[in-house]
Amino acid sequence: MPIPEKTGKKVPILTFTDVSKIFDYGTHSLRGINLSISQGEFVFVCGRTGSGKSTLLRLVTRELEPTSGRIEFLGQDIAGIRYGEMPFYRRQVGVIRQGFGLFLEDKTAAENLEFVMRATGHEEETLQERAQRALSMVGLGKKTGFLVTDLSVGERKRVEIARALVNSPKMIIADEPTSSLDRDLAWDIMSLFDDINRLGVTILVVTHDREMVNLMRKRVLTFANGKILGDVKGGRYGDLV
Ligand SMILES: Nc1ncnc2c1ncn2[C@@H]1O[C@H](COP(=O)(O)OP(=O)(O)OP(=O)(O)O)[C@@H](O)[C@H]1O
Ligand SMILES: [Mg+2]
Repeated sequence: MPIPEKTGKKVPILTFTDVSKIFDYGTHSLRGINLSISQGEFVFVCGRTGSGKSTLLRLVTRELEPTSGRIEFLGQDIAGIRYGEMPFYRRQVGVIRQGFGLFLEDKTAAENLEFVMRATGHEEETLQERAQRALSMVGLGKKTGFLVTDLSVGERKRVEIARALVNSPKMIIADEPTSSLDRDLAWDIMSLFDDINRLGVTILVVTHDREMVNLMRKRVLTFANGKILGDVKGGRYGDLV
């Protein structure tokens, strides 16, 4: 899998400028967010339920549009990405959504990854090998031919991570990837993100997992009421600076 180059320079990968999101019925989910994340960073997004964390991620994936403000990925305003260019954008941002992952249930782990690669415009002859490599990375090299319905919850989470990795993204965003897992498995998954990050991939993880955040000492953003109240490098859960 080609790996993004690691350089000493701080290159912004994701920038929010005065971003607000007001939903129908008037919920102010995000209020004037300003944020810059550099290539190669590992960032935790914390905050109470309803504080706007998932909204932030869904704006990055363009599942949602901001009410106002500007979001740039590698210097490009993502609002300006045309329909035909979306597959290329999707290749660069791997996503692990909140809750149980949606899969093609009657397909194998490998076939689920191949499906995503087809949708993002990969050459047919490379698909099998790429799926195998991504599943091996998450420790499922021997289960590539299992139907996803026959996998455990933790294994499905790994397939989701492999699916997010399979396009060799520059950035991975994950919404509470460890919330349904036991401690050991949660640790395995976070360590996996750490390994991926060491390869130069930028990681943005939403989590309520206080213990994990305190152990890993990454950049910690704390959301409250649609605003960023804390942004601390090497921080702990709940740090407000
Ligand atoms: N599609 C929607 N329509 C209306 N309101 C919404 C929509 N999506 C989110 N909201 C509201 O926006 C606010 C922020 O929601 P969001 O999902 O971003 O919270 P969160 O921080 O991810 O919470 P949690 O920790 O529970 O996942 C909430 O008040 C929520 O009800
Ligand atoms: Mg959420």
